Amino acid sequence: MAGKKANGSLVRRAVCPGSFDPVTNGHLDIISRAASLFDEVTVAVLINKKKSSLFTVAERIDMLRDATATFDNVVVDSFHGLLVDFCQERDISAIVKGLRAISDFDYELQMAQMNHGLTGVETLFVSTNPLYSYLSSSLVKEVATYGGDVRGLLPDDVLERMNAKLAESAGNSA
Ligand code: PNS
Repeated sequence: MAGKKANGSLVRRAVCPGSFDPVTNGHLDIISRAASLFDEVTVAVLINKKKSSLFTVAERIDMLRDATATFDNVVVDSFHGLLVDFCQERDISAIVKGLRAISDFDYELQMAQMNHGLTGVETLFVSTNPLYSYLSSSLVKEVATYGGDVRGLLPDDVLERMNAKLAESAGNSA
């Protein structure tokens, strides 16, 4: 059931979904902006057994919790299956996504329309801060794998954990 605030108005809840493998400063920019628009924001990590990832879901949640600890209206959780089902279970009425470039738009629009058609959940697009418009977790991992400097693109402790993981994987495959 929809919760109510002390003044009787409805609690407005949103979700920021994603793989977050790992969280970047681009994600954090969108999460912080969602947190300023909604009463409660859930950052939801997709459990996708078909996709190989650098970090486990538990590790991704841990890094997200650390990175969002300063927001008192942000919680971190995981989900599998359909995002719309997760939203219905938690009475979340909006999905907040960042749009980096026109290349994001086609697929994001399809998902937004499908999700709205399924349950009526709305999708709000936040225009990515130009500082992060080229940023993705995959690109950060690829650049870091080959020794490129990705400082400033993700939180320092996430960078450390990523470098340790990459070194571990390089050691295992040597
Ligand atoms: O960070 P990503 O991998 O680009 O995030 C994609 C995500 C998790 C938002 C999207 O794949 C998703 O919502 N998956 C859940 C499954 C689902 O609901 N599929 C139907 C989408 S219309």
